[in-house]
Amino acid sequence: MALQNVRTVGVVGCGLMGSGIAEVCARAGFQVIVREVNEELLRKGLDRIRASMAKAVERGKLSAAEMEAAWGHIRGTLRMEDFAACDLVIEAVVEDMPTKKQVFAELDRICPPHAVLASNTSSLSITELGSVTRRPEKVIGFHFFNPVPVMPLLEIVIGLQTAEETVALGRALAERLNKTVVISKDRPGFIVNRLLIPYLLDAIRLLEEGVATMEDIDTAIRLGLNHPMGPFTLMDFVGLDTLLFIADAMFEEFKDPRYAAPPLLRRMVAAGWLGRKSGKGFYTYAA
Ligand code: 3HC
Repeated sequence: MALQNVRTVGVVGCGLMGSGIAEVCARAGFQVIVREVNEELLRKGLDRIRASMAKAVERGKLSAAEMEAAWGHIRGTLRMEDFAACDLVIEAVVEDMPTKKQVFAELDRICPPHAVLASNTSSLSITELGSVTRRPEKVIGFHFFNPVPVMPLLEIVIGLQTAEETVALGRALAERLNKTVVISKDRPGFIVNRLLIPYLLDAIRLLEEGVATMEDIDTAIRLGLNHPMGPFTLMDFVGLDTLLFIADAMFEEFKDPRYAAPPLLRRMVAAGWLGRKSGKGFYTYAA
């Protein structure tokens, strides 16, 4: 299917990533249906989209009229069945294979046969997700980066059975969304997280060894390497639960200690210290 035939994009999940994906698709002129599991999460997700677009207006990236037009393209729902109207669905639920497989099996049952099913997974296998559908050639990875409206990269992940035509649709979509594409084979962590995750976990190990304070580690990376955020600020930004899911998935596949989550990370997630979104992670955030 060519991109000009895509009118309606479905987004499964309206968390940090799902809301960003819904926003950029609506801003690019697609009709967007975004689904959450309950009213409260849906309301929070839609509020996040509105706040992000308001910030874009404030920064002069979007006019007030464009914001209202984009907002008018977004419809929230609690029903998976509403994806029957979609030509492309992008899944952005929790980074857990059984949950994602269930979503893909349901999407395969509900969506029209021409629809492409994409996952925003940051580490899990696209080939495995495709295997629970009757359309593995139309299953692909679209890995966006947080904050989605700001980060200019789209990492496209090609499963063993993904068709060339599906990859071409991904490239055309990225162009519409103003994103630059990199292509990765279906290996855990793809390009970005293969390099990012050991780096972030090493920062925690450095802290636990008492080599430096987290503030100094962050400052060192920010000013010594010109990264916009040091590793602890970035981990809080990504979400410590998400980081742990990714690290565990990568360790499970590679069995390489570089991907083994340090005990401190697991304890922090158990305590509900998930980073910016929960008000506390390595740092504390005002409500
Ligand atoms: N819509 C459009 N543009 C927006 C916007 C919005 N909602 N919000 C901000 N912007 C623009 C601003 O206008 C500005 O653009 P300009 O430089 O052309 O003026 C730019 O984005 C930066 O915005 P701010 O000045 O508000 O913010 P900062 O300069 O403090 O930057 C940041 C914020 C972009 C988050 C920056 O700190 C950053 O890049 N951090 C690193 C983020 C990162 O590494 N993300 C990837 C995480 S890993 C991931 O997602 C993968 C997963 O699998 C783990």
